[in-house]
Amino acid sequence: MLQYHAVLEKVVKKAGELALSLQSEIDPMHVDTKATEKDLVTKSDKAVELFLRKELAEAFPSYGFYGEETGGGNPLQTGASEDAESFTWVVDPIDGTLSYVMHQPFWCVSVGLWKNGRPVAGCVCAPVLRETYYAEAGEGATCNGVPVHVCPHGALKDSVLATGFSCIRSGWKTVNNLKYFNQLSLECRGIRRFGSAAMDICYVASGRMDAFWELNLQPYDFGAAWLVLTEAGGVMTDLHGTNAFPREGILAAPPGLHAELLPFFKDYQRPTA
Ligand code: IPD
Ligand code: CA
Ligand code: CA
Repeated sequence: MLQYHAVLEKVVKKAGELALSLQSEIDPMHVDTKATEKDLVTKSDKAVELFLRKELAEAFPSYGFYGEETGGGNPLQTGASEDAESFTWVVDPIDGTLSYVMHQPFWCVSVGLWKNGRPVAGCVCAPVLRETYYAEAGEGATCNGVPVHVCPHGALKDSVLATGFSCIRSGWKTVNNLKYFNQLSLECRGIRRFGSAAMDICYVASGRMDAFWELNLQPYDFGAAWLVLTEAGGVMTDLHGTNAFPREGILAAPPGLHAELLPFFKDYQRPTA
């Protein structure tokens, strides 16, 4: 029985429409930046997050909120406190802001509902692609209402992989993802870099990508897609196969391919600086 679907999907879709309506006002040459000059933020990111805060607070007044642009309590940092028992919305108002700014289609609104450090409901809406992914714990995962499942074949040589480079965006010069990108490019059928981690993970969940990995993501990047993936039969771990993600990286795949990919990251150590 879906508990949040009616409200959550409606609110996320309206947020996607809001982002689309604001897109024509964005000048790619005049956008703000955050931690680095590569880390863009637009007035759309901020407006969409404020819309989501307002709508979700009205519908669920006692729930917490943790968003990329307006902050809040990070549910991965509440530990075993009583806060962990409460519900928190984990929100990326526009995942793939660079794609959004460039009027490329691969961006989405991502809203996850977390309790005890993991999602219990999640919705990812890609307005231009007209795809809305939804999952609730124990209820499976869908795209536009149709059940989705990860690709079962599992062989790396036959696989199409996806990744991103937030590590380079954050200035990681010595340790970063280029080494793994180069190594895995030689072993698989192809690698895609679409620019939205949430969509990449949802594509793995729907069997249209075979696996995704990335260094240096944040909870809001995968706050909803994590549940879409696991409800579709996939697994998400850090790059050493444990649950220290996203700090120690993220590897999202069907179980068999996940096991085949892990050895490629055995030397990975997050830079200390
Ligand atoms: C980014 C996208 C990108 C990934 C970055 C994320 P943003 O999210 O998901 O694909 O490589 O790590 O930060 O900044 O557009 O919300
Ligand atoms: Ca993001
Ligand atoms: Ca974002």
